[in-house]
Amino acid sequence: MSRTHRIAAVPGDGIGIEVIEAGLEVLDALAAAEPDLAFEVERFPWGSDYYLEHGVMMPDDGFARLRAFDAILFGSAGDPRVPDHLTLWGLRLAICQGMDQYANVRPTRLLPGIEGPLKGVTAAELDWVIVRENSEGEYAGAGGRVHQGFDHEVGLDVSIMTRKGVERIIRFAFELARSRPRKKLTVVTKSNAQRHAMVMWDEIAAMVQADYPDIETDKMLVDAMTTRMVLKPASLDVIVATNLHADILSDLAAALSGSLGIAPTGNLNPERDFPSMFEPIHGSAFDIMGKGIANPIGTFWSTAMLLDHLGEEAAAGRLMNAIEVVTGRGEVLTADLGGSATTAEVTEAVCAALAGSNV
Ligand code: IPM
Ligand code: MG
Repeated sequence: MSRTHRIAAVPGDGIGIEVIEAGLEVLDALAAAEPDLAFEVERFPWGSDYYLEHGVMMPDDGFARLRAFDAILFGSAGDPRVPDHLTLWGLRLAICQGMDQYANVRPTRLLPGIEGPLKGVTAAELDWVIVRENSEGEYAGAGGRVHQGFDHEVGLDVSIMTRKGVERIIRFAFELARSRPRKKLTVVTKSNAQRHAMVMWDEIAAMVQADYPDIETDKMLVDAMTTRMVLKPASLDVIVATNLHADILSDLAAALSGSLGIAPTGNLNPERDFPSMFEPIHGSAFDIMGKGIANPIGTFWSTAMLLDHLGEEAAAGRLMNAIEVVTGRGEVLTADLGGSATTAEVTEAVCAALAGSNV
């Protein structure tokens, strides 16, 4: 039976534009290899250029238009000409929060052929999924500034955690841990210093844990977690953390797996009331923009997550396999991975691997 998926592509800013084009090429290659599989792609040119012209990152009806799609492939938001908090809140966070994409999933693995900075650590020992709370906490957007410019100026960013918000992300993380072979979950906290919401977070985690006796669970303070990720990577499997804690830990995780350029993300609305959004973690990287040298692997891996979410597990598996064939051969890699290949060359190599040939 033929399957057509409607994908909204929002390349955004900087290298997002280059890597999303590469991701769409890979989708084309997948569809070409499987006659029953098709993608209807629409590109939305929203981002900082759009902002400079129209005063908004996306049009008023942008949200309603995206809602009609099965999934969103997003590049990045960020431009030196526009303050970061405007680009972020005008596009990416507006979509994540508006579509209740509360579960941010960030897998980290040592792909074949890629050596991370940790000496002697094997692929079997570094295989994690960070689950990031993606709708509230430190990114709730609550706060304000008064008396700006005076020396009695006040600035507030208020972290908001709700029982519902915490319980649903902890439950999501336990379910994910259950689906993986090692069945382990580490709950990251900072309840020694943050004595209100983080204590509630711990209590809710302990309550939910009672429903998952088959999952080996432990609790780590976020500062100690950084040390454990570096010194005992094999002791970790699924990791759940607040919005900001997981933001920081996932950059560390990406670096430990060899490069920020390969790290993928899914912003999921697990109930599927809204489309979910998939994106590379790396951001807009203006310093290398337009040079054609950005690593597209973060986008390809994110695209594999998108396919998985749409129920196309076989296609997702083929794409991951093609990525791993290319990294494993080690001949066609971008500069962040020690090579000198261009975005186009890596894309061509992955498409060729998908087609079963050996370019
Ligand atoms: C990420 C990024 C974003 C975040 C930035 C671009 C605001 O670092 O997805 O991890 O902090 O959420
Ligand atoms: Mg980040």
